[in-house]
Amino acid sequence: MKAAPGAQLPVKDVFGRDGFIARLWRALETNSVRMEAERRVGKTSILHKMAAEPLPGWDPVSLDLEQVHSAAEFAEMVCENVHQRLVGWKKQGKRLLHFLGLLGGAEVGPIKFPPKKDRSENYWKTLLTTTIEDLVEQQAASDKRVVFLFDEMPWMLAAIAKREGEQTAMEVLDTLRTLRQSATTGQGFRMVLCGSIGLHHILGSLRQQGYKNEPVNDMTLVEVPPLEPSVAAGLAAGLLEGDGVAADEAAPSLIADRTGGYPYYVQWVVYELRLDGQPANADNIDRVMKKLLTAPHDPCDIRHFRSRIDGYYPKAEKFVLAVLDHAARASAPLSQAELINVAKSAGDTDDEQIRELLRLMALDHYLGRDTDGRYTFRNTLLRQWWILDRGLN
Ligand SMILES: Nc1ncnc2c1ncn2[C@@H]1O[C@H](COP(=O)(O)OP(=O)(O)OP(=O)(O)O)[C@@H](O)[C@H]1O
Ligand SMILES: [Mg+2]
Repeated sequence: MKAAPGAQLPVKDVFGRDGFIARLWRALETNSVRMEAERRVGKTSILHKMAAEPLPGWDPVSLDLEQVHSAAEFAEMVCENVHQRLVGWKKQGKRLLHFLGLLGGAEVGPIKFPPKKDRSENYWKTLLTTTIEDLVEQQAASDKRVVFLFDEMPWMLAAIAKREGEQTAMEVLDTLRTLRQSATTGQGFRMVLCGSIGLHHILGSLRQQGYKNEPVNDMTLVEVPPLEPSVAAGLAAGLLEGDGVAADEAAPSLIADRTGGYPYYVQWVVYELRLDGQPANADNIDRVMKKLLTAPHDPCDIRHFRSRIDGYYPKAEKFVLAVLDHAARASAPLSQAELINVAKSAGDTDDEQIRELLRLMALDHYLGRDTDGRYTFRNTLLRQWWILDRGLN
């Protein structure tokens, strides 16, 4: 195992996620799953591992939706992949072939979709629906079970909203929900939704356009945690060994602790130690951490944590910054009352709005909340970065 921060990992190097993935497969038995997490926690790596090593009986279709900008592209992508599966099972999707006017033709190769000008009304919706109906019918006959792994779904929805209007983005969500809830397709249509921006942001902006539905509340919400300290230490030890970096006995757990268990940052620290040709001891780990956190080119891609605040909390940036500054300095968990006072002293006067803001900041992984309802700055490494970047030390 070699440190490769940001690279697409060989599946065998996706470390410490077996238990989490086993839970996901169990959840998928009965329901579709929405996977949420802070950026760079390792969501895509989890999807890759699921796609490469499915539980027996499952047949994953892994789709990266980042480059998809229209509802028709999405429906066609799903259709093309389902068609390939059906061909592999020596089955036919009669409804979808009929809809596309291809029934009776040579449908073994890639499907030909009609050009835009020849598309019928409701083209993408009908294509998506007939495709899933065919899939559910034929997978039962083939004793298979497909699960769609949709990465970057929020990006796609944002792109569709921008290009085709909010209405279409809402209809995509509603159509998927209808298929999940339908008596004919619901039992056989499973998906994992995930992405690097929280779906609640997209839903929030759709709601501003009058969207009232709850299109994902039928799905099981699963949060991807950072690695447990001992697991992150195991990853650090494996990478140090793989990269031939001489290490003190305590080095792996020190790296796990400093990085808050984020595999991405564990990878970065070991990578830097290897480049520096330095042994992994407390001094060098600290030095490398400081360098990573202060380098102007932001190698660990942390700055988005600050720069997205303006977009995430329009008109409330000042209060969010005040709350985070306060939480970053605090040495113990903070009560809600204390954070409400902090926001008030920054100029916000409405308690309810501040409560809502705190709720969103927890959803966006800025704040953690303990079982007594008290708040902390969620991640140690991001907290260190915040303190350095904001000059709070
Ligand atoms: N389980 C893991 N074991 C080892 N390294 C990992 C693991 N998960 C993530 N990483 C490291 O973190 C990097 C980012 O992981 P990944 O792309 O899966 O995160 P992500 O949550 O999908 O990020 P984003 O929010 O930007 O989409 C990987 O390139 C790899 O270096
Ligand atoms: Mg990702």
